[in-house]
Amino acid sequence: MRILSGIQPSGKLHLGNYFGMMKPAIELQSEGQAYLFIANYHALTTSSSPDALRAATHDVALDFLACGLDPEKTVFFRQSDVPEVTELTWLLSVVTPMGLLERCHSYKDKLARGIPANHALFAYPVLMAADILAYQSNLVPVGKDQKQHVEVTRDIAVKFNNQFGEVFTIPEPSIRESVAVVPGLDGEKMSKTYNNHIELFGDEKETKAKIMRIVTDSKGLHEPKDPQTCNVFALYRLFASEDDCREMENLYRNGGYGYGEAKKKLFATMWEYLAPFRVKRKHLESDSAYVESVLAAGKERAREEAAKTLAAARMAMGL
Ligand code: ADP
Ligand code: TRP
Repeated sequence: MRILSGIQPSGKLHLGNYFGMMKPAIELQSEGQAYLFIANYHALTTSSSPDALRAATHDVALDFLACGLDPEKTVFFRQSDVPEVTELTWLLSVVTPMGLLERCHSYKDKLARGIPANHALFAYPVLMAADILAYQSNLVPVGKDQKQHVEVTRDIAVKFNNQFGEVFTIPEPSIRESVAVVPGLDGEKMSKTYNNHIELFGDEKETKAKIMRIVTDSKGLHEPKDPQTCNVFALYRLFASEDDCREMENLYRNGGYGYGEAKKKLFATMWEYLAPFRVKRKHLESDSAYVESVLAAGKERAREEAAKTLAAARMAMGL
């Protein structure tokens, strides 16, 4: 089984990225041949500067390696190191109806937020389809918000195969319902766009301060509280063991346990959970040569695979 996912280097990664995408992708690396890439072509649609893009790309590589990505198991690479996907994007464009792209939520959301539309933003899902199809991926672990893009990929692949012959494997999205949407400080979906996020490798003081700002209801210390509707608990359960979760649920329901206490517990549990990742990241920061060597090896393996698919697609289309 081929498992593939990508993430944009568009800022510091946060807990939503970790639980929604990184952790599932890293866990799946033992269940098949995994491909994971840093989507820097996609990030060009929103990048602020070349230096920032380069730095963010390197940061994402460090983050994944620190969090347990094993380059022996996962083909880990930069999207732009495989230019074959841009050619494949063009070939797929031919079978992509305008209406399919016009219906994409992420495109519509960006327009609604006043981001000026250009062709790259509109064609973004076709590049994503090329990423997925180039490696004949079976499974694509992503957060809920990316599900539609995987569905678009399936539509494009089916259409291409019907028109030109069986070139592409039809992929399935893999979405963990239990952590499908990690809430941010305000209870909305955690996202750097909403600036309600907690960074994975944030500074200790800042992280603690952010956690203390998590929005809760205004129940007093002695009142019983509902863990199921509480943002603090929603984050806590991502880090804590089942027993510890049950203990906090009981404290909530019994009353006499304030949100301040719960937040402190959340911070301590989260900080401890991430400690080994921080140690590994620190070590990797001083070994850029190693990080680059991983990406260079990933590039070779990814290109080989993408080139095969591209050749088959070109041939099928009469090029
Ligand atoms: P952001 O919203 O911060 O810009 P991205 O859109 O770049 O994050 O998301 C990168 C990956 O992380 C995607 O696979 C996405 O589905 C996942 N992801 C992002 N935020 C969350 C969240 N709050 N909960 C679950 N998954 C998320
Ligand atoms: N669009 C995805 C995101 O913003 C990143 C991405 C690009 C991706 N190509 C992909 C994810 C292919 C999965 C498969 O998160």
